[in-house]
Amino acid sequence: MLSGSGWMESAPNERLGIPAIKMADGPMGVRNWAGSSAVTNAAATAPVYATAFPAGIAMASSWDVDLVLAEARAIAQQAKALGRDMILAPTVNIARTPLWGRNFEGYGEDPYLAARMAVAYVRGVQGEGVIPSVKHFAANNQEFERHRIDEAIDLRALQEIYFPAFRAAVQEAGAWAVMNAYNKVNGRWCAESPFLLTETLRKRWGFEGFVVSDWGSTYSTAGTIDAGMDLEMPGGERMRAWLARPETRQAGNDGGWLTEEKVLAAVAAGEVKQSAVDESVRRILRVMFKAGLFDHPHARGEVVETAEHRAIARRAATESMVLLKNEGRLLPFDPAKTRSVAVIGPAAAVARTGGGGSSLVRPRDAVTPFAGIKEAGGARVEVSYALGAAMEGEEAGVDARGARDEAVALAARSNAAVVVVGYSSRLESEGHDRASMDLPAGQDDLIAAVAAANRNTVVVVAAGAPITMTRWIEQVPAVLQAWYGGQEVGHAVGDLLFGLASPSGKLPVTFPRRIEDSTAFGHYPGENLHVEYGDGIFVGYRGFDRGRVEPLFPFGHGLSYTTFEYGGLTVSPPKVKAGGTVEIGVRVRNSGARTGAEVVQLYLRDVESSLPRPPKELKGFARVELQPGETRTLTFALDPAALAFFDPGKGDWVAEKGAFEVLVGSSSRDIRLEGGFSLVD
Ligand code: BGC
Repeated sequence: MLSGSGWMESAPNERLGIPAIKMADGPMGVRNWAGSSAVTNAAATAPVYATAFPAGIAMASSWDVDLVLAEARAIAQQAKALGRDMILAPTVNIARTPLWGRNFEGYGEDPYLAARMAVAYVRGVQGEGVIPSVKHFAANNQEFERHRIDEAIDLRALQEIYFPAFRAAVQEAGAWAVMNAYNKVNGRWCAESPFLLTETLRKRWGFEGFVVSDWGSTYSTAGTIDAGMDLEMPGGERMRAWLARPETRQAGNDGGWLTEEKVLAAVAAGEVKQSAVDESVRRILRVMFKAGLFDHPHARGEVVETAEHRAIARRAATESMVLLKNEGRLLPFDPAKTRSVAVIGPAAAVARTGGGGSSLVRPRDAVTPFAGIKEAGGARVEVSYALGAAMEGEEAGVDARGARDEAVALAARSNAAVVVVGYSSRLESEGHDRASMDLPAGQDDLIAAVAAANRNTVVVVAAGAPITMTRWIEQVPAVLQAWYGGQEVGHAVGDLLFGLASPSGKLPVTFPRRIEDSTAFGHYPGENLHVEYGDGIFVGYRGFDRGRVEPLFPFGHGLSYTTFEYGGLTVSPPKVKAGGTVEIGVRVRNSGARTGAEVVQLYLRDVESSLPRPPKELKGFARVELQPGETRTLTFALDPAALAFFDPGKGDWVAEKGAFEVLVGSSSRDIRLEGGFSLVD
């Protein structure tokens, strides 16, 4: 039972009536489980259709925990309808560098935001009796040499930055399963780390579920079982065939260490205790009972995707897009004045639903930005299309000059131009990092040429991480970050550009001007299979704030078509005793003319501290939708944990007495209200 029976199934035991746990990837929907992404993304495999939801980074941009819960519930319902029991999700690793190939899967750079998202996702999945798998524990923050890299991370950074989303998923949502990461942390493979799997996960956090290995991340029998890793995947014939391929070993994967023969031999030789094996079996069975797999096996149903699921995907895409810039209020387009729109670019007539690798879902159909813009513009607006520039690696034979000239001519004779740029799922993917932050070949030039031909140019970006914009940002009045919006991406783009919805997404990552400004720069990707996390706790805005570096767009930034007024900050009590809670009250008013949603962000600054602390840290947020003129009073509670930092000397979290500043704002660099309190004995 400690080893899988196939690519995505644990081992059943007919004699004892124990079924297999049938798994599928996540996190953005249910993916074909027939094999590795190299196999299932190939046309030859019988497709599995499921709703493609927006990427994790997009879901985090909504800052909407109810939405993430609804998404997760829908995914779990589809998993059941497809006869699966476990979804390999959510991905909660921190976006440490803009170059990480899997940034799109995770929830951004902030541990508090990622934790809120992780808790909502796990609750949504488990509420349906489906097993999640919170991944990848711990610190899978780069794809470069992901199977061999040894990451030196200090204890404080682990506790404050890389662990909180896992811890919250375990402690608050009672997660049933956690997946170990491929990489090494401080000299040990994650699958063999007693510090991670036993001391931290089980002893410190009280985890009662099972640990599943990432696919091909095990390197020993006794070391793996002793560390507390329970279920090795994949297994059986599929695993043997996969490991026999030279590419698998070359990449650094290994496996087949917890097979029946190897485990029994290790027990017989006294290298592994029988009780340790029993404990792992118990953990797996306990979760199977909790999920109801014995009482209500998940039989395949007729209907996988419902209208409600599609509606959630559409709402998610709309809420998650971030309006980065809107000079002169170019947006929303007024259909009475904007009679012709040129839609241009390699992501305009293709729905870039997700990044590449094990998370890429195949939807039955998807709405392209071109189609969505046409629909939203309606009969009065003429919407036309030109490719402008081929996506690098796609559409060989496109005459680059001719394609650009055609797009520029179209832009010149239209009232407005929308250039939809970005990456493909081959260029931004699991398995490799991006070589740079720059857009793929030809796209910067396309934007600059179109913007020169039409002053009303909007750039829409389909990418899962920050991109370099400095070559054209000054020439372009409006930029919409669309991320990978799932199958409803086009509807969301159309609705937002024409004002059928107001943008409300906020950045869950800092957009640096240039890669050299990013906080991991110089500490990534390491040398000789070793990387020092020299940025420590100063990841993302924590580091930009400390170094007073001006980002292109700060963490938490996102514009709206309406305006919000902040007021009435209350902080009570002004002096709080150790162990007490501080209540914060804020009034927000929609002072503009349109309905819109604001994400109110609460940051805390520890003024006096024996160890360096970031100038501010996110400790609360609320997304509120308000009609014009409507006011809402929000309350936040700062519990003792919100004031604490991890003191490696004490080996524990401590909240030191002294002054704290409360900063409430519309982004990490747009603080509207300031207050304070002090922690006393
Ligand atoms: C990925 C996991 C995924 C697994 C199964 C691995 O390569 O890192 O996130 O769940 O494959 O497809």
